[in-house]
Amino acid sequence: MKRVAATLLSCCVAVSLGGCEKAKQDMYDQPKYKPLSRSELFADGNSSRPLPQGSVPYSQGPFAGTSSGRKGTDEVGKDIAAAAAQANPYPVTMQLLLRGRQRYQIYCMPCHSAVGDGDGLIARRGFPHPPSYHDERLRQAPDRHFFDVVTNGYGVMYPYADRVDPPDRWAIVAYIRALQLSQHADVSKLPADVLERLKAIKPGETQ
Ligand code: HEC
Repeated sequence: MKRVAATLLSCCVAVSLGGCEKAKQDMYDQPKYKPLSRSELFADGNSSRPLPQGSVPYSQGPFAGTSSGRKGTDEVGKDIAAAAAQANPYPVTMQLLLRGRQRYQIYCMPCHSAVGDGDGLIARRGFPHPPSYHDERLRQAPDRHFFDVVTNGYGVMYPYADRVDPPDRWAIVAYIRALQLSQHADVSKLPADVLERLKAIKPGETQ
């Protein structure tokens, strides 16, 4: 008899918890004010409250800078996956290279120069010269080394983790690989049609 009562009780608990699960409020779609939306609650008609004088907005952690809720989780998930990859996890497409070039020109070129030889304008004006990406050591260095240098900094170079998110770090790495190839391409490895086009270029001509 005792066992029957216990079974009945656990069934009741299971059923009521199930109901609880259904009634659970979806935090993403809950009734709430979006920033700066109208509200009758406050005299100024604005749901957002003015910041107390002197307050400084600050956020940190993996969710800082993303929207709240599901979208934020997706973005953070992408960042975590990209940060865990040991080699470039993205196919090297023109789109990735263009993104990498744009980010490189913003964040790296001032010191590393447009061609990556370390003779950027900041270095010319007194900041220690970075090594050239075309040095044998850095040509042989794995993708992950470049990713880690951007994330953690290196010697006198400070980290860029707060400005360049993990997917963009890989885009920059892909672009640096393209810069390295631009100075050290093995002509014998070029596809036949590219080789033909190359042979057609006259000395002094650029394409
Ligand atoms: C303010 C100047 C500056 C900027 C901007 C900068 N770097 Fe550097 N970087 C340096 C200097 C200086 C070194 C050499 C540091 C040392 O050896 O102490 C260096 C070193 C490196 C190295 C070589 C590490 C090694 O193994 O020797 C890599 C790779 C690198 N930077 C990548 C980047 C990338 C990618 C960016 C852009 C996201 C970037 N850097 C932005 C100054 C800069």
